[in-house]
This record gives sequence, C-alpha cells and structure tokens, in this order.
Amino acid sequence: LFRSSSSRTLPSFLIVGPSGAGKTSLLTLFERGSPATTHTSQTPLTVEAALPVTTTAASNRYRSSHDPSSKEHKIFLLVDTPGHGKLRHHAFENITSPQHLKGIVFLVDAANLSTGAGGPTDAGLREAAEYLHDILLMLQKRAMGTKKVPEMPLLIAANKQDLFTALPAPLVKAALEAEITKVRESRSKGLLDSGIGMGDSDMAEEKEWLGEGGEGKFEFAQMEDVGVSVTIAGGSVLGGEGPEVGKWWDWIAESL
Ligand code: GTP
Ligand code: MG
Repeated sequence: LFRSSSSRTLPSFLIVGPSGAGKTSLLTLFERGSPATTHTSQTPLTVEAALPVTTTAASNRYRSSHDPSSKEHKIFLLVDTPGHGKLRHHAFENITSPQHLKGIVFLVDAANLSTGAGGPTDAGLREAAEYLHDILLMLQKRAMGTKKVPEMPLLIAANKQDLFTALPAPLVKAALEAEITKVRESRSKGLLDSGIGMGDSDMAEEKEWLGEGGEGKFEFAQMEDVGVSVTIAGGSVLGGEGPEVGKWWDWIAESL
C-alpha cells in the first residue's frame, strides 16, 4: 500500500483564540514535549505532531493488539494562527479552505475572563466571546450551505489553570455562553441599524443569527444542530508542576 507522508494528506487541527492565550506555546509543547518561549504571532505556523503512545486514537481503538498499525504513532498537523484582531483572516481562511481539518481548538486565557461588574476587566471576556461567536457563525453558515460538510468538533481549552485567578472550565463555559448571548444580540442589532438585511427575507436574517432563533440564551449545545460538538476542558501549557494538557490530548485522540 502506498503511503504518502505529504502534509496534504495528514489530518490537521487548527489552534485559534485571542492574542496571549498561549496558542504558540501549546503548539511547541505538542510538537516537542516542552513549551518554547514565544513572541506574539504575525503569521500562521504549521508543524507535525504525534499522539503520545499512551493515548489511543479513536480510529485505532477497535483494532486488535496484534494489528501492527495499532502501534503506529498517529501523526497529524497543528496549525497555529495569530490572535491579533487584524490577523484573524488567517484563522478564517483555514476553516474555509479545503483540507483534512479534524477539529478546532479555541484556546483562552482563563485568568483573563474576569466577570466583574462591567468594568474594563471584562475586555478579555468580550474579546474571546466575539472571536468565538464569529468562528461558530462561520461553521454554522458552512453547515447550512449547499455542500455537505463533515462534522467539526471544537474544543474550548481553558488555559492557564496554574494561575489562581483562572476560572475553572465550567465557569469558562458559563461566562462565554452568557457573553455570546450578548454578542449575537448586538451583532443583529448592528445589522438592523446599518440597514443591512432590511427588505431581505427572514431567511437571510436568520442566517446571521448564531444558534437557535428567539430571545433565549445561547448555549453551546445549540451548535449540535449544525454538526459542531463543543467540549470544554481546562489545562495549562506552563505552570509550577509542568504542563497539564492530558484532557486536550484525549480530545485530539477522540477526534483523530
Ligand atoms: P498570539 O501569538 O499573540 O496570538 O498569542 P499566543 O496565543 O500564541 O500566546 P503565546 O503562546 O505567545 O503565550 C502568551 C504568554 O502566555 C506567554 O508569555 C506564555 O509564556 C504565557 N502562557 C502560555 N500558557 C501558559 C500557561 O498555561 N500558564 C501561564 N501562567 N502562562 C502561560
Ligand atoms: Mg502566537
């Protein structure tokens, strides 16, 4: 059997999220086993990584242990993208361009999501929610198009759990759902105010609305309807006792 090692045929995972979340740190950790010092990214970066031998890829789970291919390292590509607001087209292009995209990791700095009383400390949460909203809306539009697209698992990786100010994963989920509820309201209001969508059919307007219609709360579970299953898991790329990324590896193994 011909096996090509060409990067085009390898499954890939896309890492997105706000600037400073730790995306490039995570990429170097997954590639080399220890995180390198990083600078803010201005271009995307693709590397090859291998699943640790202790983690079994879902696609290998039902193979007999006598099957030599079950002992093979599972190789995949990781694509890091810049988080800066003006450079996010790199992330969006990687979602729309045809490739073997197996999943998306949305990395957030869980210590930068303070849900204070609406002061400037909420900027981190707002930025993360707006970025995540736009990615989910893009995946929703993609699923509602005429072409059939594969399901897309999305991991919200709540990074920097080593910091005592970090929100634990369930609170990160709640904070992002509540903030995305506000984002989609202000986005649809913005469209109405600017006159875009006026005179259009209800259908066209509906498409700009993330998740279920109506005034209710946004929940990640609403994305299941468009083939996007959202998982939230905490971890840390750095930290006193070393990296804590087992749950993220497990998710990659599940999705590979
Ligand atoms: P952009 O390239 O600007 O989009 O940012 P990025 O998401 O690639 O962030 P980067 O990996 O450069 O990390 C930003 C800073 O966070 C660096 O100083 C890292 O050392 C730090 N950092 C990353 N992960 C962790 C973590 O788990 N805990 C702590 N305490 N710091 C972390
Ligand atoms: Mg970076």
